[in-house]
Amino acid sequence: MIRNNMKAIIFGITGQDGSHLADLLLAKGYKVVGVARRSSVDNTQRVKHLLGVDGFELVSGDITDCHSITSILRENDDVNEVYNLAAQSHVAVSFKQPGLTWDATAKGCMNILQSLVDLGMISTRFYQASSSEMFGKEFDTTEVPVDLVAPFDGPSSEILKYQNEDTKFLPQSPYAIAKCAAHYMTRLFREGYGLHASAGILFNHEGPRRGEDFVTRKITKWIGEFVRWVDGKENIITGDQDSIQSLDPIDRFPKLRLGNLEAFRDWGYAGDYVEAMWMMLQQDSPDDYVICTGKTHTIRKLLDVAFSHVGIKDWSEYVVQDPEFYRPAEVDYLRGDNQKAKSVLGWEPKHSFEDLVKMMVESDTDDVK
Ligand code: NAP
Ligand code: GDD
Repeated sequence: MIRNNMKAIIFGITGQDGSHLADLLLAKGYKVVGVARRSSVDNTQRVKHLLGVDGFELVSGDITDCHSITSILRENDDVNEVYNLAAQSHVAVSFKQPGLTWDATAKGCMNILQSLVDLGMISTRFYQASSSEMFGKEFDTTEVPVDLVAPFDGPSSEILKYQNEDTKFLPQSPYAIAKCAAHYMTRLFREGYGLHASAGILFNHEGPRRGEDFVTRKITKWIGEFVRWVDGKENIITGDQDSIQSLDPIDRFPKLRLGNLEAFRDWGYAGDYVEAMWMMLQQDSPDDYVICTGKTHTIRKLLDVAFSHVGIKDWSEYVVQDPEFYRPAEVDYLRGDNQKAKSVLGWEPKHSFEDLVKMMVESDTDDVK
């Protein structure tokens, strides 16, 4: 469906989701204004392919600066949809930089909402990037029947944990607390000012454009570099506790250093999830939706699947668990229930966990024979 007369602003255009959403909206015929903050090095890597494309404009702005938001909105007061994807989005970093995280992730959202109201742009639709991190330690449970295998001596049902739109929030990090504040602010502006403001409570979503310090990409990027290092070498021996060694003792490759491998995450593909964002803003009424796959895996399982794509069955010799990558508080279990998104939006994920990991490993190894 082509929408030639539609215009959207994306805050957070230079991030993983911003770039996928821009691709989607431009393909639908939207004009897209992407807001990027000033950086001393080039931060437009993920939207390079869009620079100079008809209908795409990059403007400079920072969501912690009300003046910059107001002037961008004022200059684009014909905008139909505003997507707030901008945030300090790394959970571990939020423990080290809680003030900055609060300013960008919580206050930034309020700055945009308040500017929309102050400028009288009440008919502009608004999307807030909420997060499954907001659930933190909390989950609900459901009892599901188990297909019994003869001799029928096991339990006939099992208890499954999940989170959906009715699960309460019990945030476990400065990031998650900031996201809760932004989420409640979005609801307040919806109810208080009648703004068409929706929040997508998105579970982890990844892909080849994922930031290199999130666990999926950290693993697939390491695999890519390792495979490149190994390429053409005759023999690899174990090395020491920090590195892998070839027959030449000074030719070493650092092991992959990770933190907690036991946490469960519901991982999906970012390209699928930005469609759900757009669908939310096409509804007659604004609302909140959980977006997820409904399947969950540990980081150990992720390592199994990722390493198996390059023919390594036992990754334990290549991975070191390092206390530096543990967090002061952890979210142990995330598995979403996407029934509402399926039934109201007609959205469902198109890529499985296995497809996702394969796509990421292939992308990070694509120049290796
Ligand atoms: P990301 O790759 O980290 O992108 C974040 C974006 O926000 C980047 O463009 C970043 O700009 C921008 N930004 C940060 N501070 C800013 C500021 N003060 N002013 C303007 N822009 C600023 O995150 P993502 O994975 O695309 O996620 C998009 C949004 O969804 C985030 O709000 C995230 O918290 C949320 N979310 C993500 C997931 C997930 O699994 N990916 C799940 C749930 C919710 P720079 O490029 O200059 O740093
Ligand atoms: N980043 C990272 N690095 N995580 C590690 C590492 C490591 O070396 N080792 C283990 N982990 C574990 C973390 O402790 C966490 O349990 C899990 O891997 C996932 O970590 P991340 O990939 O950093 O993602 P996240 O779940 O903390 O947060 C992401 O998803 C949220 C939605 O649930 C981010 O994209 C957030 O912005 C998003 O809101």
